[in-house]
Amino acid sequence: MDDESRQRFFKNKRQEGEGLGFSTECVHGGEEESREHASVEYPIYQTATYYFDNTQDLWDYYHKKSSRLSEYGRYGNPTIKVLEKKLALLEGAEEALVFPSGMAAFTTALLFVCQTGDHIILTNDGYRGIHKFCDKYLARFGITHEYVPFELGEIEKKIKPTTRLLFSEFPSNPRLRVLPLREVAMLCRQKQVFFFLDATFATPYNCSPLKYGVDLVLHSLTKYLGGHNDLLGGALLGKKELLEQLRLFQGLLGSILEPHTAYLLLRSLKSFALRMKTINESAEKIAIFLANHPKIERVWYPRLPSHPDYLVAKEYLKGGGGIVSFEVKGSLDEATRLVDNLYIPRIAASLGGTESLVHVVTAMSYHDLSPEQRKAMGVADNMVRLAVGLEDSEDLIRDLSQALEKV
Ligand SMILES: Cc1ncc(COP(=O)(O)O)c(C=O)c1O
Repeated sequence: MDDESRQRFFKNKRQEGEGLGFSTECVHGGEEESREHASVEYPIYQTATYYFDNTQDLWDYYHKKSSRLSEYGRYGNPTIKVLEKKLALLEGAEEALVFPSGMAAFTTALLFVCQTGDHIILTNDGYRGIHKFCDKYLARFGITHEYVPFELGEIEKKIKPTTRLLFSEFPSNPRLRVLPLREVAMLCRQKQVFFFLDATFATPYNCSPLKYGVDLVLHSLTKYLGGHNDLLGGALLGKKELLEQLRLFQGLLGSILEPHTAYLLLRSLKSFALRMKTINESAEKIAIFLANHPKIERVWYPRLPSHPDYLVAKEYLKGGGGIVSFEVKGSLDEATRLVDNLYIPRIAASLGGTESLVHVVTAMSYHDLSPEQRKAMGVADNMVRLAVGLEDSEDLIRDLSQALEKV
């Protein structure tokens, strides 16, 4: 097939409501343009800057009379552009913007949307790095913040005239809490509050939050989208008008992903649907195994009817994702003994990669807090977080089983 007909085919398919399947977009999305040298894979444009044939070209570029992407690496790169197109297609977003980490995406968005005098609300279970940033640094910008439980009524009570933004994780870390997106988005619209959602745990495979009225979606690409525990990245996704303003802000802040990492992400995304399908299935089997084990007190997994948000999760999530958090009967000692006796998952932070990872939650993200502070935050000392990877679920279950015998 010649390039032009092929490009027309992809364009028409997407315009006809029928579209293309999720896996097809994982492989081809954003990449349908012809390539130099007929290369099947999209190349890495490892360049810091771009040349102009003459000064008139430069004038034309700045006066938007040419179709070139960028004049300098901080303002654009073709490999990164293809990655952004693919991510936008997978998320159902008008546009995507990628960053060197999830935290870079978060801080850029927050500092763009909020200004001195603003108040922000965060849901109270979430990635500690984000909470630490807010607790340590927001005051110096004159921005105040508060934490709320995962309840619509509680969120509404906390909204005041200066409230500019609501931030939540979907599902949250480590207890996999979820908000009813449609209702929360409606409340935010009524109150003119910007709804910023970190959907790293859901991924675009399990949910498309923008269609419920969320204003901006964040992903740590380090997790499922990168998928191999070998890179760091972040993304923001939403409406074109907002993303274009964010792009300018990002270019001047200088928080730019490397073209080589963009290539690794393009490579990872080809198998993303397959990986997520397996991870959803394995994690659910493991959650059920743990829920029925006599040495386990409680399992936090959104697809289990015992989870407080089971019904919301059922409505919004195609699968429960790869994190299974659980409390071992006993204390920190029992949780530690279990984790230290596992052979397959390594003790590490992060999630969403090929290798399963595990840790005692208190010992990793909450190590700097006193037992009383942890209790106030609802983090149990006997809680373990397992990030399920691509090993056979039977092997992971056997491993958990033998480790539980030693508890
Ligand atoms: C839910 C969530 N959001 C954001 C981040 C930050 O992403 P990164 O580590 O890519 O900066 C993390 C990191 O663990 C996370 O778990």
